[in-house]
Amino acid sequence: MAGAPQTSLEKEKELAALAAVKYVHDGQVIGLGTGSSAFYAIRAIGTLVRTGCRIRAVATSVRTGELAREAGIPLIDINTIDEIDLTIDGADEFTPDLMLIKGGGGALLREKIVASLTREQVIITDSTKRVDRLGHFPLPVEVIPFAARYVQKELARLGGTGKLRSKDNGVYHTDQGNYILDVDWGLIDNPRALAEQLNRIEGIACHGLFIDLTTRVLMGKGERVMVFEG
Ligand code: 5RP
Repeated sequence: MAGAPQTSLEKEKELAALAAVKYVHDGQVIGLGTGSSAFYAIRAIGTLVRTGCRIRAVATSVRTGELAREAGIPLIDINTIDEIDLTIDGADEFTPDLMLIKGGGGALLREKIVASLTREQVIITDSTKRVDRLGHFPLPVEVIPFAARYVQKELARLGGTGKLRSKDNGVYHTDQGNYILDVDWGLIDNPRALAEQLNRIEGIACHGLFIDLTTRVLMGKGERVMVFEG
């Protein structure tokens, strides 16, 4: 990120982010994603704001809120709006038909709420994120702490091995105070069917399968940006 020499993957993220920021228009409400790719978009949107673009933004995490404030982007409470015009966010994996795994950075619940309110979701990634089938990356599942053991057993019943995410020798907590189980399913045959099964398990606050939420993916590849649209 800022200060250090940029690797080629960081360059790809930045190229994708700069391409995504071209979709931002004066007067819009913008959803700001979380993660290292979103960082570049937040920085570029800050530049737009400083040159007179009047946008308001919703942050998908505490960290993104801090970055947005530092960049001078006006933030609003999500409960004061009915719709978000455009959201720019990252992903841990995507397929060319626009199914995603998200939540590697732990912000999946707010990211999915923001995505659900969004008219146009633009995902930005480097070239390592494109896959033919989801599941190389363990699927993040956010659970309320009271339900962690129960959910882990239900996931095992469906064939998934869930590992409690840790941080600094303790349990990782999301911005909502929940836990995350990172679940290995092997490659996922039918993400839509799996998402429906996960939606039915009590105690899961959110899972990282994002389906029918994305308008386009912009993937940095070398010096270019590739566009995937539904
Ligand atoms: C955070 C996310 C991120 O968008 C995802 O982890 C990708 O992050 P990065 O751009 O740093 O690779 O879902 O919850």
